[in-house]
Amino acid sequence: MSWRTRANIAWLRGLPGVKEQEPLASRTSFGIGGPAEFFVELARPEAIEKSIEGACQRSIPYLLLGAGTNLLIADRGVEGLAIRVVNRDHEIEGTRVRAGAGLKMMRLARIVADANLRGFEFAIGVPGTVGGAVYQNAGCWGKELRGVLVEAEGFVPGVGTQRWTPSDLELGYRTSALRDGDLKGALVVYATVQLRRGDGEEAKQLMAKLTRERNETQPIKTKNCGSVFKNPPGDSAGRLVQAGGLKGAREGAAMVSTLHGNFIVNEGGATAADVKRLIERVMVEVKRRFGIQLEPEVEMVGRWN
Ligand code: EPU
Repeated sequence: MSWRTRANIAWLRGLPGVKEQEPLASRTSFGIGGPAEFFVELARPEAIEKSIEGACQRSIPYLLLGAGTNLLIADRGVEGLAIRVVNRDHEIEGTRVRAGAGLKMMRLARIVADANLRGFEFAIGVPGTVGGAVYQNAGCWGKELRGVLVEAEGFVPGVGTQRWTPSDLELGYRTSALRDGDLKGALVVYATVQLRRGDGEEAKQLMAKLTRERNETQPIKTKNCGSVFKNPPGDSAGRLVQAGGLKGAREGAAMVSTLHGNFIVNEGGATAADVKRLIERVMVEVKRRFGIQLEPEVEMVGRWN
């Protein structure tokens, strides 16, 4: 039976601040994707929990959105409820920092440098939110969130609020129990990281240097979703795409970056279908040429058929 009963639609329409048929493209770094049938932006953890719990009890499909930096949303949009998590508060206690899932990693990197804390400089290269970073153990320059994470707090539908240690989260290369394991469907609300005292000015100088380098090697000023593929063990997806002669390959207005082979750029008006075709073409060609099966890092969500 469809979840679209009168009672469910009435419940969705009653959510505070809910919007219907809300465009999501502008809420992704790709600038691509159709609307959400229902959309709410929530900051208070209790409100987030209540809406997810309600959706689950009613079998209404839901999608959790952070900064939308690692997402390819289908052109036909998203069924059910899209919830954008925007709790952006933070607390610093000594060398520990507890941050809301909706805070951007880059913003937190600057906040902790201002507080003379070190060890979080890598986050200046991580485009998404704190919640998204826990979800996929985001990283940059050989460092990952799991190097500093001490705890995450979140919510499991039907179970309630939980605290997770890094081992509960099963953090691996661009993966976690939230993305690929037992905690699928659960939501991160806060994360706590352990940093060390140091010179904030040095941290800022290092971050400026790393950003300059990233600017030279990645098309960071374009509309993109970050790395499209995970790096295969011992190799680099960007190198393989380049060696396969695929830099500059196009489908519609989607193009494999000429700067970095593991980026696809929306040149303006690209559809999700364009990007998906290009991803598939790259995967087929890399498999044919080198026998390596690339695995997308970007998450494809929504109604594809
Ligand atoms: N390379 C090529 N051609 C290319 C791109 C890269 O030959 O078109 C070669 C480079 O010369 C280098 C190697 O591949 O020898 C690795 O490239 P790079 O240093 O650019 O790093 P990456 O492995 O492609 C990873 C992360 C990035 C992160 C950078 C910087 C993944 C999938 N990607 O990229 O993360 O910013 O390291 O540390 O792990 C992201 O996850 O969205 C992301 C951008």
